[in-house]
Amino acid sequence: MNNLATRILSSSSLPTPSLVASLSSFLSHRLIITSHRQQTFVRHVSTGVPELTKDRYKDVKRGNYTKLDKDHIDFFKRLLGDHRVITDSEECSGFNVDWIKSVRGYSQCVLKPKSTIEVSKILSFCNANKLAVCPQGGNTGLVGGSVPVFDEVIITTSLMNTISSLDDISGIAVLEAGCILENVENYVNEKGFMMPLDLGAKGSCHIGGNVSTNAGGLRLLRYGNLHGSVLGLEVVKANGEILDLLSTLKKDNTGYHLKHLFIGSEGTLGFITKIAIQCPPKPKALNVAYLGVNSFEDILKTFKMAKSNLGEILSSFELIDEKSLDVVSTYYGMKSPIGIYPFYILIETQGSNLAHDEEKMNLFLEKVMNEGIVLNGTVTNEDSKMKSIWALRERITEGLLCDGYVFKYDLSYPVKEFYAIVEDLRERLKDPEVFRICGYGHVGDGNIHLNICLKEFSQEILKKIEPYVYEFTSARKGSVSAEHGVGFRKPKYIHYSKSEAAISLMKDLKKVLDPNNILNPYKVLPQ
Ligand code: FAD
Ligand code: MLT
Ligand code: ZN
Repeated sequence: MNNLATRILSSSSLPTPSLVASLSSFLSHRLIITSHRQQTFVRHVSTGVPELTKDRYKDVKRGNYTKLDKDHIDFFKRLLGDHRVITDSEECSGFNVDWIKSVRGYSQCVLKPKSTIEVSKILSFCNANKLAVCPQGGNTGLVGGSVPVFDEVIITTSLMNTISSLDDISGIAVLEAGCILENVENYVNEKGFMMPLDLGAKGSCHIGGNVSTNAGGLRLLRYGNLHGSVLGLEVVKANGEILDLLSTLKKDNTGYHLKHLFIGSEGTLGFITKIAIQCPPKPKALNVAYLGVNSFEDILKTFKMAKSNLGEILSSFELIDEKSLDVVSTYYGMKSPIGIYPFYILIETQGSNLAHDEEKMNLFLEKVMNEGIVLNGTVTNEDSKMKSIWALRERITEGLLCDGYVFKYDLSYPVKEFYAIVEDLRERLKDPEVFRICGYGHVGDGNIHLNICLKEFSQEILKKIEPYVYEFTSARKGSVSAEHGVGFRKPKYIHYSKSEAAISLMKDLKKVLDPNNILNPYKVLPQ
C-alpha cells in the first residue's frame, strides 16, 4: 500500500502508522462490498407486490385506448417472432412493477425489439391502432414512470445492447439504448475513458433510460448533466418515423437543438434507440475521503473549502446523515469506519497526477480539521477501500426497501437550504407509524433525497406529506424533481416548479410529437 493510501485523521491528532494499520484492516474485514451490484439488488429487495396502481390511485382514469386483442398479438409475433413477444402473466409481472415497489400495472404484453426498424414498426402499428405503450429500460426509475399504469404495451430495450463505436481520440461512443451502464463503463475503461455519469443502479439501468430521465448521479458536479455529454440521439417518434439526430459533433448549431427535447422526457415524446455520448478520459489518480461532522453548517463550510482547495479535481461531494447510514449498518452490517457522527461527507477527487492530488487533499483536510470543522475522517486511494466507502453511500437506496415502504422525494434547493426539509419534517411528522426520516444526496448539486419510511403504504401518511413537501420546496424556489423525473408520481405537482405557461407549452409539444397520446400516458404532464 502506498504510504499515503489510507490515512485517518482526528481533530486532535494527525495520522499515525498504527491508526493507518487499524483502519486498513477495519476496511478490509468489516465492510461488505460487492462488485456486482445487480446481484445485491435481487437479494435484498422485498418480495411483496404493491396493490394495482388503478386501485391505489383511483383519480387516474384509463384513457380511451384500444384493448389489446389476438390480432394485435399476432402482428407482434409476425414481426418479432414468438419468443420476443411475452404474454404469459407470470413473465409479464416483473415488467409491471417498479423497482421500489410503489406502483403496479397489468400489461399482458411485453415486446423485445432488437433494432430501430422493429421499434419503428411497433410504434407505427400501435399509433394506427391507438394502443398505448410504455417504454422500459432497466426498470430502475424511482418515480413510477417505467411501468404501465393500466394495460399499456411494454416495449423493453433489453435486447438493443450493442456498443456501436468508440472513437479512441475524442472518446465519443455510440451506443444502443439498451446497453447497461456498467457494461459500457467497463468497456470504455479498457480504452482509457470513463462514462460521464455514475449511479448506484449502474448494474441494471440502461443508457437509454438514463438519457430519458436525464439521470444526474454521483459526479454531475464535475462532468455536468446529460444535456452536455449527449451529442446526438436516434429517436423513433410515436408514429414510427425515425428521427436521425445522431450527431457525433461537439459543435452543431444548425437549427433547433431537438435532442434536448428527448433528454429527460421520460418516454413521453419519443422512443430513444441510439445515443452518441462524450466520454471523458479515465482519471489516473483517485482519492476518496469519508469525514464526520457535527452539523449541516459544517457541511457547508467544508463544501466551500473543498471547492476552493480541491478546485478542478473535485469530482463528488456527497452527504449522508446519521439515519441514512443506519440503513446500511442495520441491514448490511456496514459500519462507519470513523465512528458515529450526525453527518458524514464523502469527497472524491479525480485527476491525472497522484502526488499532486494527494498534496491538495492533505492540505484541504488539514485545514478543515485544524479549524475544527471536520471532527474525524479517513482517506484512501486503494481501489477496494474506495469501493467500500462508496458502498456506504450507494447502498442506502436498496437498504431503505428493507424498512418496508418508502416515500421518496428528490428535491433541489439553493445549497444553504439543502437539509431544511429533513429537519422540518422530523418536527412535523411525529407519527408512530413513521420510523425513519432521513436525508442524503448530492450537496454539490443542491440535490437532497428525502426518504420517509414506514412498514407499509399508508394513504393517511401520504396526505400528511403531500403536497406539504412540494409547497415547502416551491416556497424556497426549489425543484420538486431534481434528477429522478416526474414519472407517474408527480404530474399533479409539476406546477410547484413550472409556470402555467411552461406547462402549456409542454402540452403543445406533446400534441405535436404524439397527437394520439400513446407514448407513456399518465406520466410527466398532468392529465
Ligand atoms: P427505466 O426505469 O426503465 O425508465 C425510466 C424512464 O425512462 C421511464 O419513464 C421510461 O418510460 C423511460 N425510458 C426508458 N428507456 C427509454 C427509451 N429507450 N426511450 C424512451 N424512454 C425510455 N437517478 C439519478 O438521476 N441519479 C442517481 O444517483 C440515481 N441513483 C439510483 C440508484 C438506485 C439504486 C436506483 C434503483 C435508481 C437510481 N436512480 C438515480 C434513478 C434513475 O432514474 C435510474 O436508475 C435510471 O436513470 C433509469 O434508467 P433505466 O434504464 O432503469 O430506466
Ligand atoms: C441516489 O443518489 O442514491 C439516488 O438518486 C437514488 C436515491 O434517491 O436513493
Ligand atoms: Zn441521487
